[in-house]
Amino acid sequence: MTTSDPWRLVGEVESLGLVSSSMYELVVGLEDVVSFRPGQFCMLNLGGGREMVLSRPFSILAVDGNRVTLLFKAVGSGTRAMATCKPGAPVVFLGPLGQPFPSPDTATAGQTAPRHLLLAGGVGLPPLLAWQRAWGREGDLYLFGGRDGGDVPWSLVSEGWRCSVDRHVDVPRNVDAFVGNVVELAREILGSVDDEPRRVLACGPLALLRAVTAFAGERGWDCRVSVEERMGCGYGVCRGCVVPRADGEGYLTACHDGPVLAADAIDWKCFGRAEGGSPPVSAIGCNRPEQDTKS
Ligand SMILES: Cc1cc2nc3c(=O)[nH]c(=O)nc-3n(C[C@H](O)[C@H](O)[C@H](O)COP(=O)(O)OP(=O)(O)OC[C@H]3O[C@@H](n4cnc5c(N)ncnc54)[C@H](O)[C@@H]3O)c2cc1C
Ligand code: FES
Repeated sequence: MTTSDPWRLVGEVESLGLVSSSMYELVVGLEDVVSFRPGQFCMLNLGGGREMVLSRPFSILAVDGNRVTLLFKAVGSGTRAMATCKPGAPVVFLGPLGQPFPSPDTATAGQTAPRHLLLAGGVGLPPLLAWQRAWGREGDLYLFGGRDGGDVPWSLVSEGWRCSVDRHVDVPRNVDAFVGNVVELAREILGSVDDEPRRVLACGPLALLRAVTAFAGERGWDCRVSVEERMGCGYGVCRGCVVPRADGEGYLTACHDGPVLAADAIDWKCFGRAEGGSPPVSAIGCNRPEQDTKS
């Protein structure tokens, strides 16, 4: 896998199927081969209907020659349209885009490669599953959090992942699922004392990223998060995906500087909106002008 200039390729849907009660696996066949690094994403447009006038960003789970696999949940008009697509439906793919998760060999100066702790929530799974498949090593820990047993793609997390569920419902009998969130599961496994330092990689809802950042911060561990902001262009032009910088010097873009960012590069107080959509975080303690997006 190499990082290269993004391709704009056309292709078609090869298959679509459910891997949990709410998560779809989509395989698209493109006109040419592509490559990617775990954490990179594509802008996908299924064309045809007005629902997908704008492309939507999706992390790349796997590439096999010219076949690309994605996982998604139907949350709005575009993804609901995707969930009804048929084999042969036309696709426009732009990717790979953005900065990937670091490989294990990207150690901090003077240090050996750390063990890793991966935390995924819901559709935060694909970039971290891709990372595990590419670079996972013995001693790394992979944790996935779902709402309940039906929400967990068991066939995918059987590849060495431990799972947490908010509610112990629809959990297969032979499975040991922790009840709580995925950060609580990490605490349970690693204990309260400092373990050997790990590098933490996380992807999922904003609340999860905040909790993971706090957890890694308590232990002084390097932490990288993939921020799944809403996107317009996907390549740094529209500035619709800005993330406030921790140093106060303006904003990063999730699509070009990220989506994988060092957790300590983000001003968490000003980032995102309060859960539930409103009021903006700026109303509860962030003094940045909301529309000021200059970098
Ligand atoms: C880099 C990146 C990688 C992503 N990878 C995946 C992936 O692998 N699988 C997947 O299912 N989704 C992923 N997403 C999120 C996905 O892009 C959105 O779910 C999708 O764009 C929603 O489109 P829609 O038209 O269905 O929803 P809309 O009608 O646009 O919105 C419906 C609802 O979803 C919310 N929403 C929309 N976009 C996002 C977002 N980015 N984050 C959180 N909430 C959002 C809206 O606030 C609204 O409540 C990723 C996003 C980014 C930026
Ligand atoms: S989506 Fe356009 S700048 Fe990031």
